[in-house]
Amino acid sequence: MSTLTITPLGFAAGAEVTGIDLRKPLDAADRLRINEAWLRHLVLVFPRQELTPQEQIVFARNFGALDQHESQAPQTLHADHHEILVLTNKLVGGKQSGTHNSGRNWHTDLSYTTCPAKGALLHCKEKPPVGGDTMFANLYIAYETLSPTMRKLLESLEALHDVSLIRGIEQRDPALVADMKRRNPPVIHPVVRVHPETGRKSLFVGQRIRGFLGVSDEESQSLLAMLNAHATSPEFVYRHRWSVGDLLMWDNRCSCHVALGDFDQTKPRVMYRCSLQGQEVTGRFATEAAAADRDQMLQAVAAVS
Ligand code: OGA
Ligand code: MN
Repeated sequence: MSTLTITPLGFAAGAEVTGIDLRKPLDAADRLRINEAWLRHLVLVFPRQELTPQEQIVFARNFGALDQHESQAPQTLHADHHEILVLTNKLVGGKQSGTHNSGRNWHTDLSYTTCPAKGALLHCKEKPPVGGDTMFANLYIAYETLSPTMRKLLESLEALHDVSLIRGIEQRDPALVADMKRRNPPVIHPVVRVHPETGRKSLFVGQRIRGFLGVSDEESQSLLAMLNAHATSPEFVYRHRWSVGDLLMWDNRCSCHVALGDFDQTKPRVMYRCSLQGQEVTGRFATEAAAADRDQMLQAVAAVS
């Protein structure tokens, strides 16, 4: 066992992990301690790590199989490693990158697929002098602090998640956006999920939801706004201020996050992300919904296509 130290950074989420060099192979005892800390704190921060793409991939694989990012436009992936999504506001091939404004509304990674990511490992390569923080919300607490009556209502509710609700997507290259939409038709997920490792329930909400099944647009918008405001209450949030070399690992099964655009956009911000593959399919394509559901959704889906 190494000298691994875990220091909480926030009440709702976040802990720093020091005394470990992520380039070295992880032994079983440390892997277990990290996993336990991850389940407890949802977001782990490993400061001062300088990993090559290959080293990041090897470390990430300790926590599950990596997504090959087939849901993403290929131009946004690392040329040699499709396990790495490159979030950059620098030009790519002389053109604006497809990820220059990624993550700008509250979301859970890959919720627009039938099998959302288990987690993600994001490594900071370059950052602006100030700003460009990322906020994470604890969705267990969000669920647990709702009234029993509201929880009961939500238990049976399903939501339509839609890639076209990514904030700022209209500012991206239209060909790339068309590709993203083709790869990711709208999907339906339950609003309450059970974490496969902790057994705890969490509220699966965010700003990439178009509405709820069997609920009118008007009702959906009010309910969604209420749930998102609740879930992202400051008390439930950990805000990370990045340093180059930070590697963050978050549990996507019980949290959501947002990347703030509050920085000088002429300064580079570059992050490499590995996504841990979801372990279970929790969603289904909206087009495969039962006919009764489909009637309810026609309005919503019409707005999508
Ligand atoms: C992500 C993401 C946040 C950031 O990589 O999934 O949302 O701060 N990024 O870049
Ligand atoms: Mn994200």
